[in-house]
Amino acid sequence: MEDNKKKYLIITYGCQMNIHDSELLAGMLEEMEYHQTAEIEEADLILINTCIIRENAELKFFGKVGSLKALKEKKAGLIIGVGGCMMQSDQAVKELYQKYPQVDLIFGTHNIHHLPDLIKRIEQERGRIVEVWKQEEGLIPDLPAKRENISQAWVSIIQGCNNFCSYCIVPYVRGRERSRPVAGIMQEVNKLVADGVKEITLLGQNVNSYGQDLGDEVDFADLLQKLDKVDGLARIRYMTSHPRDFSQKLIDTIRKSEKVCEHFHLPIQSGSNHILTKMKRGYTREKYLDLIKRIRETVPDASITTDFIVGFPGEREEDFIATMDLVNQVQFDLAFTFIYSPRTGTPAAGMANQLEPEVKKERLNRLMKTQNLISLEKNKKLINSIVEVLVEGESKNNRMMYSGRDRKNKLVIFPKKDNAKGALVRVKINRVQSFTLFGEIIEASFNKKLVVETG
Ligand code: 5AD
Ligand code: SF4
Repeated sequence: MEDNKKKYLIITYGCQMNIHDSELLAGMLEEMEYHQTAEIEEADLILINTCIIRENAELKFFGKVGSLKALKEKKAGLIIGVGGCMMQSDQAVKELYQKYPQVDLIFGTHNIHHLPDLIKRIEQERGRIVEVWKQEEGLIPDLPAKRENISQAWVSIIQGCNNFCSYCIVPYVRGRERSRPVAGIMQEVNKLVADGVKEITLLGQNVNSYGQDLGDEVDFADLLQKLDKVDGLARIRYMTSHPRDFSQKLIDTIRKSEKVCEHFHLPIQSGSNHILTKMKRGYTREKYLDLIKRIRETVPDASITTDFIVGFPGEREEDFIATMDLVNQVQFDLAFTFIYSPRTGTPAAGMANQLEPEVKKERLNRLMKTQNLISLEKNKKLINSIVEVLVEGESKNNRMMYSGRDRKNKLVIFPKKDNAKGALVRVKINRVQSFTLFGEIIEASFNKKLVVETG
């Protein structure tokens, strides 16, 4: 490692979209001959990629950036840059610029490809720069990603969101939907597979709107069909999909495909039609239940996960009971549950009947308790079954163990065996918790096509 090279470190908050953006930021920095470091004290450049989806993401960020002040005072020449979704908010930029003089650079989600120029300007002129574009200018151009993982990769297929759910800030910070042409996606995926990638996750705020703006009669199902034919690729995942746009054609395509995983993440947000209407989700509880029924009829062994927001303005106890009832009815494999967080600029933030924090917390706890039991019961059925796992690496909590995910996206932990990192292996499950399956490798079938057995 050449020690005279400048070093960078990126801190990322938020969703997979942001994690992938950070890979692109890292890719550009590597091309500028910066090297990655894990030690913050060593860094010549620190970038923070922010999230704005809920208030706690913002609070964590301000805590972090505050803590960098001492470092900046100690180290002459340290550059601190902040980008990401939060920087699309004028108010956040104003606060950051005025109260945090340690920050040299502020940039937004629409101009990440300008990072090299911005950094060069700061290196030369040593001033502070704020460059945030209010609007997208077409697609962000293809950029080289620096991937941490050898066998898995994110592939962006559509940027932005047109939905404007009443609680959500995303459309305001990520702009309108823009699909990436098929050719560019296929080219990227073929290259990734040639580099050894076995699993791709197609990314977009609403992947099932894919193609609507392209004008060449291609939709998300068509894209999946094309990708399913890529030799050497083992798994295709996608996120996030909107229940309103999940067509029967898409379900049938997934059923017929070999590589698209049997996992459906379909955020419902609430089980009450009164709340769903206020959220502007575009479906009813009945429509959602019908979708789940059709998925289960077509792909019988699928796992189904969801997101919930509890404590939306005007949520009555009876609305919450409708959510609890739906949870019991659907029997999700997993649910991500969030307390409603008012986001300035969204319609819901201005609605009457905002709920007290205690009410929201109590409902969240009730929902989590019920769902965790359901997740546990579902996982118990997997004891003694054999699942195909793509080994991601050492488990976070135990260095003697590997962790990875099965096709249904369940986290699987097992003792290390051979040099299985990055490989597809067969794991026999012997113990389960609500969020985790434990087992041991029975066969390390590197690169072989596997059939999953359930028992
Ligand atoms: N408050 C709480 N949760 C939210 N989400 C999106 N916006 C908000 C908000 N204002 C949740 C939704 C979405 C997930 C990614 O984040 O459940 O599906
Ligand atoms: Fe992701 Fe939305 Fe957060 Fe941006 S605001 S990082 S798109 S979750």
